[in-house]
Amino acid sequence: MRRAVISGTGSALPMRRVSNAELAETVDTSDEWIVERTGIRFRYIAGPDETTGTLAADAARAALTAAGKAADDVDLIVLATATPDQTFPATATKVQAMLGIDDCVAFDVGAVCSGFLYAIQVADSLIKTGAANCALVIGAETFSRILDWEDRTTCVLFGDGAGAVVLEARDVAEDGPGILASRLHADGRHNELLYVDGGPSTTGTVGKVRMKGREVFRHAVTNLASVMDESLVAAGLVPGDVDWVVPHQANARILDATARKLGLAAEKVVVTVDQHANTSAASVPLALDTAMRDGRIKPGQIVVLEAMGGGFTWGAAVVRI
Ligand code: COA
Repeated sequence: MRRAVISGTGSALPMRRVSNAELAETVDTSDEWIVERTGIRFRYIAGPDETTGTLAADAARAALTAAGKAADDVDLIVLATATPDQTFPATATKVQAMLGIDDCVAFDVGAVCSGFLYAIQVADSLIKTGAANCALVIGAETFSRILDWEDRTTCVLFGDGAGAVVLEARDVAEDGPGILASRLHADGRHNELLYVDGGPSTTGTVGKVRMKGREVFRHAVTNLASVMDESLVAAGLVPGDVDWVVPHQANARILDATARKLGLAAEKVVVTVDQHANTSAASVPLALDTAMRDGRIKPGQIVVLEAMGGGFTWGAAVVRI
């Protein structure tokens, strides 16, 4: 059967790493509060020459190398971001140009922190129909540019970065590798719980992130446990079959609570939120690349990717590596 197989992963982080203690010099917060409430210790902040596009291109190059592919092999780029370099054109087309690809399909997907899950399902669908054979699926963000650095309830939580995977069409056996199932959801009634207070068509400005954290937390645990369960059922698997969960890295307490709800051991959850903070659409591919490169995730293993973000939007994908 024709499946979309993850044949390489890559990631990129800005040069500058910022600790909680460094943040506490300019924001009314403390290392103790941030670690206890979120698990975050560090985040990376993009410099003036680092953009969503440059980080995405670096992550994409690393993924292509890992997959043993040349840029010319790519016929599709789907880039998930809420912080594009420009309102238009799509950052995916900037990445295309930076990689030196003359012609391919390239567009952005906007589903905030769930963007990578949305992008994976779009690319998987295009591969299954035969419209694409080799896709770069990227999550990349520079959330530092849309943070209100005077709002301690949000600015300590986010960071910048990018992650990418190469998705390749392959004919595989039933028990072979590839994306086995994915499920997506959105519920637009919750806009006011997590949003940016600006945009091209409303204020004509970029705006800043606003969030009612406690309410987002509650929805996140319920929605994530439910969509993971739904995706596993669609893949014909049960929680006991899962080797690794690679979750959206928003808050260590959300990761723990979600795993507990599904009866999954905490040791099966890949955690990078301590090092990267919440990098929105970049967080799942960044965490995936981390666990692929350090050898935790091995060929043949079952991995569940999951995320929830503004909208609300949420989703999960079950993959055999
Ligand atoms: N440093 C110190 N104190 C802070 C602070 C900070 N950075 N941010 C908030 N506080 C204070 C609050 O002002 C509040 O003080 P008060 O009790 O005097 O009013 C107190 O800490 C508790 O705030 P609260 O918002 O109730 O804390 P919490 O335990 O809910 O933790 C979050 C806050 C944001 C960490 C948590 O709600 C969360 O992670 N939510 C989910 C967010 C998320 O995942 N978003 C992304 C989804 S994609």
